[in-house]
Amino acid sequence: AIAAASLAAGAVVAVARVHAGELGGGDAGYGSVLTALTVGLGFGLFLGPRVLVPFSRRRLLGLAVIAAALALVVLALVQNLVVVVFATAFLGVFAGAAWSTAKMAAHDPEAPEGARPAAYLRSVALITALVSFAVVPLIAAAAGSHRLDLGGGVYDAYGTGVALLVAAVLALVTGLFAYRRLDDRRGIPLVPDLRAALHGEIYTPPEQAAAAPQPVHRNRGVFIAFEGGEGAGKTTQARLAAIWLRDHGYDVVTTHEPGATKIGMRLRAMLLDRDTTGLSDRAETLLYAADRADHVANVIKPAVDRGVIVVSDRYVDSSLAYQGFGRGLPVEDIARVNAWATGGLVPDLTVLLEIPPEAGLRRLPAPADRIESESQEFHERVREGFRALAEADPDRYLVLDASRPQGELSREIQYRIREILPDPVPLGTEDATSTFPVITDF
Ligand code: TYD
Repeated sequence: AIAAASLAAGAVVAVARVHAGELGGGDAGYGSVLTALTVGLGFGLFLGPRVLVPFSRRRLLGLAVIAAALALVVLALVQNLVVVVFATAFLGVFAGAAWSTAKMAAHDPEAPEGARPAAYLRSVALITALVSFAVVPLIAAAAGSHRLDLGGGVYDAYGTGVALLVAAVLALVTGLFAYRRLDDRRGIPLVPDLRAALHGEIYTPPEQAAAAPQPVHRNRGVFIAFEGGEGAGKTTQARLAAIWLRDHGYDVVTTHEPGATKIGMRLRAMLLDRDTTGLSDRAETLLYAADRADHVANVIKPAVDRGVIVVSDRYVDSSLAYQGFGRGLPVEDIARVNAWATGGLVPDLTVLLEIPPEAGLRRLPAPADRIESESQEFHERVREGFRALAEADPDRYLVLDASRPQGELSREIQYRIREILPDPVPLGTEDATSTFPVITDF
């Protein structure tokens, strides 16, 4: 996929000067084409990880490459400089999106230690670009210019146009091949999959949906999760938030993961006991998911259905950050397993308390458990993971620097929670009635 994207972009650069000249553009035309490509690439790099978030990254990568190749077909055939500049810009966007998506999709959990997929991709891109710089102009020269008589009119086939078309066809064939190899949702039709992703959902074919558990309809209660690395103080903040909510007359259930249910406590013991050795990463992920499934079914969902506010210390994001980013398992797979385990229950708000691992681990009083005693790099990856998750869905997250004073943090959390409460106490009421007793002492 990357070779095809790089070929498409490289071919344009290779003959842009001459092609712009053929179309009567001169230096200004050449400059416009290169600018369009660069600006497009920049946009694409930025957009890649941000568009269609629920959509499979591997499918997106294949589609972006095919779209880049199609843009090149247009660019090669239409002999109008304005169209060429716009097609180049689109080509850039798709190639850029392909690049940033490939970096996400290339993450391979089975890769041996020391494998560097990003470096490999960079080499593929570079070599393909260099080869296309050398070969595309040769094809252009070999093809030469011809006047084609098309009955109704004539079409001047320039050598550069022919060379671009050859590159486009090659990129298209490679792109289609790559899409087929990449596709991790085989059998699921593309159009409804894309349509669902546009609405922020993961498409489930009707026959699977009928078999899957019904998603939770949270029309009454509110579900708030607290997330963060070790020693970020989320337990404290979750408690303070619950106390504040109770002071305001809300019915609150505070809970935590792992180990909030009877079965969960046994799973927690297995998961965190340092005597548990040799537990495989996938098994660990499934045990956390099992604990979560039990937690949702027996604690969270019944409470939310009753209209209660549920405050949970950790939820799905912990698995994405620890098992996904920390252990290096594919984040998409973990998300899917957890979506199934939880019946699709997503928090209304996730508060992420951010702290550098060394500072967080220093704060911990008790001897380290199995996860806490992982390496510094592991905890660094977990932190990056949490950050990436929050960045991908900024509306659902409140990200706070956990090194700030506790009182300040809980104030900010309260302001944010107030926004999602079904019937919040009006702002200013606290000042007038001074019903703010428990929190202000920090
Ligand atoms: P936590 O209960 O926050 O630890 P503590 O009681 O010591 O504050 O979490 C237990 C550990 O489990 C923590 O190190 C993070 C880890 N964890 C995962 O790796 N994946 C998960 O899905 C969850 C919920 C926790």
